[in-house]
Amino acid sequence: MQITSFKQYEEDFKKSVDNPEQFWGEVAQNFQWRKPWFKVLSWNFNEPNIKWFEGAKLNITENCLDRHLEKNGDKPAIIWEPNNPEEESVTYTYKMLHERVCRFANVLKRNGAKKGDRICIYMPMVPELAIAVLACARIGAVHSVIFGGFSAKSIADRINDSQCKLVITADGAYRGNKQIPLKDVIDDALIGCPTVEKCIVLTHVRTPVSMLKGRDVWWEDEVKHVNDICEAEEMDAEDMLFILYTSGSTGKPKGVVHTCGGYMVYAGYTFSNVFNYQPGEVYFCTADIGWITGHSYIVYGPLSQGATSVLFEGIPTYPSPSRFWDIVEKHKVNTLYTAPTAIRSLMSFGDEPLNGKDLSSIRVLGSVGEPINEEAWHWFDEKIGHGKAPIVDTWWQTETGGIMISPIATVTPTKPSYATLPLPGIQPILVDENGKEIEGNGVSGNLCIKFPWPGMLRTTYGDHERCKQTYFSTYENLYFTGDGCLRDEDGYYRITGRVDDVLNVSGHRIGTAEVENAINMHAGVVESAVVGYPHDVKGQGIYAFVINPEMHGEEELTKKDILQTVTRVIGAIAKPDKILFVAGLPKTRSGKIMRRILRKIAEGDTANLGDTSTLLDPAVVDQIIEASKALK
Ligand code: WTA
Repeated sequence: MQITSFKQYEEDFKKSVDNPEQFWGEVAQNFQWRKPWFKVLSWNFNEPNIKWFEGAKLNITENCLDRHLEKNGDKPAIIWEPNNPEEESVTYTYKMLHERVCRFANVLKRNGAKKGDRICIYMPMVPELAIAVLACARIGAVHSVIFGGFSAKSIADRINDSQCKLVITADGAYRGNKQIPLKDVIDDALIGCPTVEKCIVLTHVRTPVSMLKGRDVWWEDEVKHVNDICEAEEMDAEDMLFILYTSGSTGKPKGVVHTCGGYMVYAGYTFSNVFNYQPGEVYFCTADIGWITGHSYIVYGPLSQGATSVLFEGIPTYPSPSRFWDIVEKHKVNTLYTAPTAIRSLMSFGDEPLNGKDLSSIRVLGSVGEPINEEAWHWFDEKIGHGKAPIVDTWWQTETGGIMISPIATVTPTKPSYATLPLPGIQPILVDENGKEIEGNGVSGNLCIKFPWPGMLRTTYGDHERCKQTYFSTYENLYFTGDGCLRDEDGYYRITGRVDDVLNVSGHRIGTAEVENAINMHAGVVESAVVGYPHDVKGQGIYAFVINPEMHGEEELTKKDILQTVTRVIGAIAKPDKILFVAGLPKTRSGKIMRRILRKIAEGDTANLGDTSTLLDPAVVDQIIEASKALK
């Protein structure tokens, strides 16, 4: 299954386009199925209706755990590195992980969970998070992991959207020198969640928490009541595996749905190939399991391939900006997969944190989540890879389930800031605004995919029409990514960023409409418009233009109040970096906000505002420019 030469990549790619069913049918043979499929693929992008490995039966946890037990049971599956480096790291072998997952799966059953139920997971980056995820999959329950940075309201909205029956959380989380009261946040959320019957709470930080009689139970108590034998539920290839909420251009996040068979094949295949993973190697992905990267490349991808995956609880700068390098040295990490925002942040500390660190174990480097600028690429290459480790700049999305356009480590010649070439099975095309294909090289356009791949989303939970509208209606018969893209003279792809109203802040996807809704909930705010602007570390920062005629007291204080509201409504990750109070917003005669102009102002590029003659009140623009000059 592993591609070892560029020639083989080209052959596999050709085969995957000429005969996709045969290609994926063969890849899928590398996994364990209880029953084979009768059809590899049926599809229709108009409805959309996509089915991979129809008729096949499996359980993904048998692929991630059971099948490794005989030969590799004592091999480390997960190495957990705690937030505090003074604490011991913990290694779970495949045997141990299997045992814990089965035991916790029985806890879920004991608390009423069964196949098809939705379970919300809101936990710190501890091994029990991976165990909870796998335990859901074991019994066929659908997990919906929510990133620890979301507020109670965001959690409640997600729980209600998918009608979760159970919540798994912890008393709290450590992040650097901060402690986050997870259970408190969950308690606030659950006030408005009538479908939740049980909440399982892991003890982690040992902070006092409220435990509601009849609803809340302790993880540690529950596991004592069950044994560790739990046969995996037989799942249909197209049964739901998980829901993961992600932001789009409208205010409400969507529950992206992935199913069992195709997702497993795609996560496993891409993990093995993109990182050129070799048996026995240590692989470290710094993402959080609350995002798709953690799902596919900390849990399912690596474990399906019997790899050793490092799970890190903390942050790159705690207790010092040497932390990643200490972890690499300590666990002899061979592959480091991280985000441009982390690279840029660590870069800003200079070379000092790298002094004396042994990074010689590193063989492959990876980047994900946002475009990586050339400066960061070269720093990563020279300082971390010592010019010897290929960098895989992996482009993909929550909706794609796995990596789509990326170099294959040791195989594809790389080029700074380029995601390079599509993986076998992926057929990208560039289109203009009218959906006309832009052929040839040395061109730019909107990135679409014209043929299905096994890891793609199947629907958005509870609202199939929304899935159709968002991804399959902009251009006929194409999956639209929302990204702009350049294809250079060599046919290499470079992702240039979102072309819709979605921001990418430190690799986190945030919809401008979502942030605007949150700001507009603040008392006194009449209207707001949010745009992104280039930010040295975060990639993009959030710039909010706010109309607020009834300001109480000081302007600075009011800004802080608004930030507090955004934190309450969405979470701290969505806090604007800059707030500018304005008297009006530039609108067309039909009332549409001209974001293009606001973007220019946010970028400080006020000389080229373009045509403003269609505006209802062009004078508003001058006022905003004047005000923006005073804002640092
Ligand atoms: C962006 C993260 C440039 C892109 C896996 C995409 C990237 C969005 C890259 C998806 C990359 C991701 N180069 N841009 N290598 N990887 N993106 O759903 O805009 O959190 O649409 O998935 O991140 O973000 P998501």
